[in-house]
Amino acid sequence: MIQVLHISAECYPAAKTGGLGDVVGSLPKYLTSSNVLSAAIIPKYATKWNVNAEWITVFKGSVWVDWHEHYFEVHQHAGNTLGYPLFTVHLPGLFDRPGIYNDPSGAPYPDEIRRSVAFQQAVLEWLLSFPWHDRPRVLHCHDHHTGLIPWMVKYCPKYQHLAPIPTVFTIHNGQYQGAFGWSNARYLPPYEPGTGTILDWNGHINPMAGAIKTAWAVTTVSNSYLYELHQSSLGLESLFRQEWQKEWGIINGIDAAVWDPATDPMIQQRLESNDVAAIKTFKEANKAILCEWFGLPKDWPLISFIGRMVGEKGSDLLPEVYKRFLNAGARVSFLVLGTGETWTQNEFRSMVHAYGGRFNAVIDYNEALSHQIYAGSDFLIMPSRVEPCGLNQLYSMRYGTIPIVRSIGGLKDTVPDIAEADGTGRGIRFDKFNVEDAVYAIYRASSMWHNDPDTVDLVRKKIMDIDFSWENAVAQYLNVYKSIGSSVAPEVVNLTPVPEEPATPAPAAEPTETPKTKKASRTKKK
Ligand code: GLC
Repeated sequence: MIQVLHISAECYPAAKTGGLGDVVGSLPKYLTSSNVLSAAIIPKYATKWNVNAEWITVFKGSVWVDWHEHYFEVHQHAGNTLGYPLFTVHLPGLFDRPGIYNDPSGAPYPDEIRRSVAFQQAVLEWLLSFPWHDRPRVLHCHDHHTGLIPWMVKYCPKYQHLAPIPTVFTIHNGQYQGAFGWSNARYLPPYEPGTGTILDWNGHINPMAGAIKTAWAVTTVSNSYLYELHQSSLGLESLFRQEWQKEWGIINGIDAAVWDPATDPMIQQRLESNDVAAIKTFKEANKAILCEWFGLPKDWPLISFIGRMVGEKGSDLLPEVYKRFLNAGARVSFLVLGTGETWTQNEFRSMVHAYGGRFNAVIDYNEALSHQIYAGSDFLIMPSRVEPCGLNQLYSMRYGTIPIVRSIGGLKDTVPDIAEADGTGRGIRFDKFNVEDAVYAIYRASSMWHNDPDTVDLVRKKIMDIDFSWENAVAQYLNVYKSIGSSVAPEVVNLTPVPEEPATPAPAAEPTETPKTKKASRTKKK
């Protein structure tokens, strides 16, 4: 029985644009390995991974959104190879597109409200089909894309059978709240008179605000970020303060099986043992390869940036910061990987021409290359304006790359400065979001690299030894579930492959004769 159902717009490896995908792709696995069977459900996008995977249709139904009936199917990933059951909602015409939020040109899909409401209703329709005793014990919703669910189960008569199931809402990014005007209220399913206003915040329907008001518990991904949301959250400050009693800050873990320098298939040189000498070999070999690929000097410190080039991540600060060093002829080099805002991308592109040999940029989203950059860089910079948790600093520490971070949100909670007298330091921090502070932080990093290699070795060893696994966070989430009266409890988990025969009849159009297609419900599109 699925005890915890994670409902999200992203789940790695099926769909990921950022940390949300990583977290939803690994938290269910670690809850499940603690014997609390957890599953994830996301929309079925036409991503490469989804198209190549094999699926079993487990439910078919339809939802009405704004006078249109949308047929849908719930597909389960066959084989259970992810360590937890993964379900996708196939909504023909709405999600079977290559992008997750945007089309390949970068423009957001214009029918976001319809897509989001249809997905959330489809999940609830599917849940209504579960026998009472088999329903999940917690609905765990992630970010605004699933923020209407806690409200729907409370106030939409159609879904009120699900109201006794405790809901948890986790905020990975408070910058996006999914708000839309009341003129679009027709997209909502019918609700009890007067209860629509619960979704209102500052004159708009605000799914994030609705979820903060109606979920049984609200969590975010670090304590510092929770505190910051109370100070500044694009208008939701008073709401966060009002609901403080049900709010929790839980720092994310990382998937230590995917991010393992000893076994990672995406890096060129694996870690052979944990001693300082082996770490040195690991770092040097990976750096040599990286420097060769990107035409950078091996004997200068290499500082990388990986991530989305959007305001929150602060990457727009970097061109100016880097130019201070490059123009001064400083012995330091830089590498950038990511996509995002046009201005920043163009700046980086032109810098490749102006400063080749000391600066390089890959304007792309490339999971495998990111692993090699974590393994081969000396430092990773994260100048974020806002950082709810931040995973990149955790990945980088696991691969012995010293983080340079702005003291904000989860960065503040996970990267104490190496100058701290108590010896807890893991990286280099700066406070203000400005060029001078960032330049000074890089200056500290670079001079440590050139002048104090022993400290570099010690810090590397220390950060590679930290346990960033999910166990801690899992224990805290279990506490949250219990605090709201959910009956989650460890039980024997049976993750055998999904039965060949689906719970509902296979689509009529599927052939059933030849041995290859005998599993009528299985779909693998090529
Ligand atoms: C978002 C946040 C990031 C966080 C991630 C996972 O991407 O920006 O800070 O680590 O979600 O929770």
